[in-house]
Order: sequence, then C-alpha cells, then structure tokens
Amino acid sequence: MDLSTGFSKIKTAVFISGTGSNLKNLIQFSKSKHSPISIDLIISNNRNSKGLKYALVNNIQKKVINFKNKKKAENKLLYELKKNKIEMICLAGFMKILSQNFIKNFKKKILNIHPSLLPKYKGLDTHKRALENNEEYSGCTVHFVTKKLDSGKIIIQKRVKILKKDTVSSLSKKILLEEHKLYPKAIIKVLNY
Ligand code: GRF
Repeated sequence: MDLSTGFSKIKTAVFISGTGSNLKNLIQFSKSKHSPISIDLIISNNRNSKGLKYALVNNIQKKVINFKNKKKAENKLLYELKKNKIEMICLAGFMKILSQNFIKNFKKKILNIHPSLLPKYKGLDTHKRALENNEEYSGCTVHFVTKKLDSGKIIIQKRVKILKKDTVSSLSKKILLEEHKLYPKAIIKVLNY
C-alpha cells in the first residue's frame, strides 16, 4: 500500500538480458506517485547484464537464472516470482523464449517490448532489416507474450520516421527513446488505470 495515495501497486518483475535502459526507465516510472506498478524483482539470464546494476542502486531484489536447462530455470523462476508475490512481468530485452507452461501462470500479465512495428520484423536485427527494405517507418511495439516469438496481441505501437541519413545506430537510438515512453503507456493501458 502506498500511504501517500492509498492504493496498492501491482508487484512487477522485469526480465532483462543486457543493458537495461528500459528497466531503468520502468523503475523511474514505478516510483512516480501515480504509477500503478512497483518493481519488486529483477531477473536476468545473464550475470553480466549491465542492467543488473539498477537493482543495487534502487534497492530492488535481483536474481540471475541460468537457462541452460529451461525447465529447471522456469521452475526456479516460478518459485522466485511466487516468493515475491509478483503479479505482472515486463520483458525488456530478455533474450529467452518462455514456454506455454510458464506463461499460463501469468495470463495476460506478461508484456514484451520489441523494436519494430510488429507483425513486421520479428526476432533480431530489426533496424538493419527495416533499413535494407527501405521502409519509410519503423518503430516499437508492446505486446502480450505468447509462446510464439514476438507474436502475441499488440497493446500499443509507436511509429518512427526513417530518414535517408539514418543508420542502424541512429535508428536504434531514436526508437529506444520512444520505447521508454511507450512501455509505461502500455502498462497503464493493460491495467486500465
Ligand atoms: C530494446 O530495443 C527492446 O525493444 C529489445 O531489446 C532492447 C533492450 O534494450 N527487446 P535495453 O536493454 O532496455 O536498453
């Protein structure tokens, strides 16, 4: 319960594999008075994820889970999530695919952000492929997670214009900025807040 607002925030876990700029932004968002979520757990499959540093700085629990054996990893995950009473999961640059068996425990409560206008450019190297195809626009999408990669129902998207001078690096920077605005909007939308 947030004593200043009088409502309980939805306990959320963020899963990462790398830099964690979306995680950083979600933590910031969660701290605002009017955010419907609190971030109570950070999960990474990679102990070298730069984003793990945000756990320490913000005094949030973190767990590194080895995914060599997916079944064992998911069991451990479920244990940690239950222990921390997690109600919602935000994938943010998490490079593992979760099984149906895991997903069913969090129906409509696992979100992912992807740097393309889905259903276009699922998977990796989205910016490179968009540029190679001379797309006029790319962008980012927040969607519900299903066992099929980048294929669940779309919650919200943001279009970004591709300029002639854009490179993979400039386009990914522009889109990442939009991702940081889009993820909180998606959460608010999903929670009907
Ligand atoms: C983002 O572009 C996200 O859309 C994709 O992976 C990247 C993660 O970036 N799934 P960061 O780790 O949040 O900085």
